[in-house]
Amino acid sequence: MTLNETLVRLSQVSVDFHGEQTTVAALRDVDLEIHSGQYLIIVGSNGSGKSTLLRVIADDVHPTRGSVYRAPALTRSGSTSIVTIRQNPAQNLAARLTVAEHLMLAGAIGSGALPWQRLRVKKGTADAAAYLHVLSDAWTAVPTQLAGELSGGQKQLLALAIALTIRPLILLLDEPTAALDDQNAHHFLTALRKAQSATPMACVIVTHDERVTSTNEFQPCRLAGGSIVSPSLLQQRISEESPT
Ligand SMILES: Nc1ncnc2c1ncn2[C@@H]1O[C@H](COP(=O)(O)OP(=O)(O)OP(=O)(O)O)[C@@H](O)[C@H]1O
Ligand SMILES: [Mg+2]
Repeated sequence: MTLNETLVRLSQVSVDFHGEQTTVAALRDVDLEIHSGQYLIIVGSNGSGKSTLLRVIADDVHPTRGSVYRAPALTRSGSTSIVTIRQNPAQNLAARLTVAEHLMLAGAIGSGALPWQRLRVKKGTADAAAYLHVLSDAWTAVPTQLAGELSGGQKQLLALAIALTIRPLILLLDEPTAALDDQNAHHFLTALRKAQSATPMACVIVTHDERVTSTNEFQPCRLAGGSIVSPSLLQQRISEESPT
């Protein structure tokens, strides 16, 4: 995988949710391309469709109308193609596994030792633990603590360390800094950008946290009422950064 290859392309994607009383148009006619190596920030207020957009990209939700192209690399068996850091920290970890067990598994996946029965846990474990300390220099949880017992922010930092270790083709982050204090949010954003820059991993962050937009040089894309309302600046940035 080289930089700037199209990984996912949404064409005129709309998603309607049919409830008992009403139908909600969560996404409306969204056109969006995700390239390898891209760092894409999408901002929008509550209910604007951010999580739904990530779920479409991750193939968890099928469009009501429109189409989604996926590069063959994403569907190749054995590759960890898309990882989502969910908005709710509890959904990102296995509550009954310890911190150390999470780091061990992340190392195994990151070093390509899947499936689970062929785990070869050596090098990657150290990588994941190292990421944890880069993300938070005030990390206090002990390795034997159960993930379910961590604070919300600690859960999120552990999930992010795992994601960076696994290094998928696309990393989707849904409000990743919501549970983090200012210092940890800064560490995380810096570490994420550093881990991602000059690699083919694409990162898509959806957020309404101004710390994300102010920490980065990228012009965010804006989602409002299920529609992307300011793609032009984003496209400009992509073309500026594209290798010639
Ligand atoms: N499973 C669902 N069933 C019905 N409606 C849904 C469902 N998921 C989302 N919606 C509706 O779709 C719209 C977009 O929701 P979404 O969760 O994508 O917003 P969001 O931008 O992520 O909001 P927030 O910032 O609060 O997380 C909302 O009006 C929401 O009520
Ligand atoms: Mg959301």
